[in-house]
Amino acid sequence: MNTKQFESKVVLVTGASRGIGNEIARQYALQGASVIIADIQPAKKDFPFEFIHTNVGESDSVKALFSIIKERYKQLNILINNAGISVFTPFEELSLENWDKVINTNLRSVFLCSQAALPLMKEKGGKIVNIASTRAFMSESNTEAYSASKGGIIALTHALSVSLSKYKIQINSISPGWIETGNYEALRKEDHLQHPSNRVGKPADIARACLFLTSPDNDFINGTNLTIDGGMTIKMIYEE
Ligand SMILES: NC(=O)c1ccc[n+]([C@@H]2O[C@H](COP(=O)([O-])OP(=O)(O)OC[C@H]3O[C@@H](n4cnc5c(N)ncnc54)[C@H](O)[C@@H]3O)[C@@H](O)[C@H]2O)c1
Repeated sequence: MNTKQFESKVVLVTGASRGIGNEIARQYALQGASVIIADIQPAKKDFPFEFIHTNVGESDSVKALFSIIKERYKQLNILINNAGISVFTPFEELSLENWDKVINTNLRSVFLCSQAALPLMKEKGGKIVNIASTRAFMSESNTEAYSASKGGIIALTHALSVSLSKYKIQINSISPGWIETGNYEALRKEDHLQHPSNRVGKPADIARACLFLTSPDNDFINGTNLTIDGGMTIKMIYEE
């Protein structure tokens, strides 16, 4: 990879104070980009990111975020819509409040941030990556709100890639499978071996894909979804 390609780029990663987003932010910073992280909690790891306190599900908070970016950076080249929460509750007990919270944090945020990014991307073009989930395609019980939010992200991604093509804004989604953001060493052998890739995923697996999708060389990849799950969604399971 051309290591200079992200120098002078301004990158915004939402929900990047920890977990997958934090590793995405770190990888862009290592490639020389100016990285802004927008989160409801400050980052634990010390890295040269600009932290802007934001609730990505709230319109006023997103407006404030983008007015700071406009004032300080004058441009935005890459937006990674990563912030997300999961609430897994039996469907009968899923409250409207929790439904709205998950949909607003995971899906409305992608609408709000992508729309707010437009004025900063319109002139020179830009790249957006939305973090969905393999739960957009497959389910365990009691995951309705989360699965719906992630399915919505994939549909929003292809709709936006068509609408914003006139501005040379390229939009894709990534659907991670099991990405361990806690203690990787504590995972069991069977956790790893159930994956065709023989291991559970790591945040760096998703971060590398973000760099790939937002590389100037890859502008022919547009409106699509990249599943990164060690092969779990293509695995057929029959009882022996
Ligand atoms: N870890 C996985 O196995 C996995 C699998 C599939 C998809 N994902 C998706 O990847 C993304 C990151 O997941 P993760 O595992 O790193 O999660 P995480 O919980 O470790 O980190 C999420 C971050 O988002 C922030 N956040 C939550 N609500 C917010 C809000 N309203 N405004 C701004 N920031 C907010 C949190 O403070 C946190 O820093 C999520 O969209 C998640 O749905 C994760």
